[in-house]
Amino acid sequence: MRPESSLEQMYRRRASGGWRARLRRVLEPPAPYVMNPDEPKDYPLGRWNLYIGGAGRLVKGYVNLDLCEVPGVDVVADAERLPFGTGTFQRVECDAVLEHVRNPAQVMAEIDRVLAPGGYSHLVTPFCHPFHEYPKDYRRFTLDGLKELAGPMEVVAEGWRTGPTATVLVVVIEYVKLLLPFALWRMLAHWVLGWLLFPLRYLDLLLLRSPRANRIGNHCYLWLRKPVGQAGSRL
Ligand SMILES: C[S@@+](CC[C@H](N)C(=O)[O-])C[C@H]1O[C@@H](n2cnc3c(N)ncnc32)[C@H](O)[C@@H]1O
Repeated sequence: MRPESSLEQMYRRRASGGWRARLRRVLEPPAPYVMNPDEPKDYPLGRWNLYIGGAGRLVKGYVNLDLCEVPGVDVVADAERLPFGTGTFQRVECDAVLEHVRNPAQVMAEIDRVLAPGGYSHLVTPFCHPFHEYPKDYRRFTLDGLKELAGPMEVVAEGWRTGPTATVLVVVIEYVKLLLPFALWRMLAHWVLGWLLFPLRYLDLLLLRSPRANRIGNHCYLWLRKPVGQAGSRL
């Protein structure tokens, strides 16, 4: 049998019903970000939809593909080689994954290939965000960089999902943890600062309206549509 990767162990620990995991879930502070209410969500789902990198999540209505073999994942595969035929899906979600793949252009070519003409793809990527390995962390993206990757797909919406305050809060929490030598202290700092600072996240509801939010934005998004005249892969 294949040994579990450390990422698989982490997802199993998080989902476990044991008392430690349950205590962790109770103490876990609210996220230090709010989602941009202006980000569109209503592009249509089809009969077949693909969610790339959904380990640790229940993604109803999607085929959930990830490198990790954990409950909830339907297909274990690398996004650089999607094991599906051309034009299979009406929608492809790729949320916080492109920074973790070796070759994002290859993943985009695969998304383009498996999307049906007229289908939609949703990309979300970090810009100002701390290093986080799932299982590696290779890069950050601006909206311009993400649009370069989109290739022949049509950009139908773009913007910032999480804003400058989210950036400041995650960096402050990481900075304080950096000063602490013991894992238990770092865990306490994560809880205490997380609970104390999270109300500040609502400032982003204001700041996300600024055209300058992109200077220290946290995560950006693109909605892409595959043109109807384009049947196959661009490779
Ligand atoms: C930061 S998590 C994002 C999880 C989810 N989208 C969310 O927002 O909560 C990144 C996920 O992408 C997966 N991943 C990383 N590289 C991948 C690849 N080459 N192919 C498929 N999945 C990958 C990781 O295993 C991990 O579950």
